[in-house]
Amino acid sequence: MRSKDCVYVLITMLIVLIWCFSIEWTKLQEADKRSSEVNDSVTNCDNPGLFKSHFDCCPLKHCPFNHFPIHMYSGVADVVAAKICFNNTVIMGGIRNNAGPGLNIVTVNGETGEVLRNNNFDMEYKDPEELLAYLKTLKPGNIVLVASYMDPTPKLTDEIRDIFTALGSTMVKSLKPRDSWVFAGTYGMKKASPFEKLIQNDMRTNVYGDWPEMGEVIGCFPRTETE
Ligand SMILES: *[C@@H]1O[C@H](CO)[C@@H](O)[C@H](O)[C@H]1NC(C)=O
Ligand SMILES: *[C@@H]1O[C@H](CO)[C@@H](O)[C@H](O)[C@H]1NC(C)=O
Repeated sequence: MRSKDCVYVLITMLIVLIWCFSIEWTKLQEADKRSSEVNDSVTNCDNPGLFKSHFDCCPLKHCPFNHFPIHMYSGVADVVAAKICFNNTVIMGGIRNNAGPGLNIVTVNGETGEVLRNNNFDMEYKDPEELLAYLKTLKPGNIVLVASYMDPTPKLTDEIRDIFTALGSTMVKSLKPRDSWVFAGTYGMKKASPFEKLIQNDMRTNVYGDWPEMGEVIGCFPRTETE
């Protein structure tokens, strides 16, 4: 082989090497970016915005002393499940992928802010007794966060509606099929909760055809005072 050819071969090899390396480097950078995105998403995202673009995180909210940041959404039509953020952390929905049709409920120790349970109650295919039994285990001072997805009503009995009313809901009594409902209350508070939103299913005004717009509640929920 002539030396000129040798130089060509060497240069070609060098170019291929640099090219391979740059691809690996980009991959590494992307992987790194992805893992930090996942970390951020489980907790919060700094710029609040539309539900869809912040599907996996909680818009960061600062609250005064003795209050917990809450941010809750009902589902979007039958496409995106509900999401419940407590203390700027995704508890249900989003990246956790644990929300489902019917009612999604998170129970929190109202004094410490410790998340005790998160459950999905499919109001169409599950026994409503399960939800009733769950609600009967609530203790005074528990904070209860509720977000609907698809349809909260098929087996929503009057007894269940009465319990939500006792938690501070003023709208659960008028909940109808495919309404969007989000609510946060405290067991034993015995007064109406301002943290509630009901968007009625109405074919004339629905944003998503068969479904109304998603409901959203954002705020600072008061800590339960110790007796
Ligand atoms: C993501 O979080 C995990 C556990 O909290 C940690 O080990 C990891 O280093 C974090 N990744 C990045 C990119 O921050
Ligand atoms: C709530 O969030 C704050 C700030 O991230 C954290 O310091 C605190 O421990 C959290 N509280 C609970 C009960 O998880």
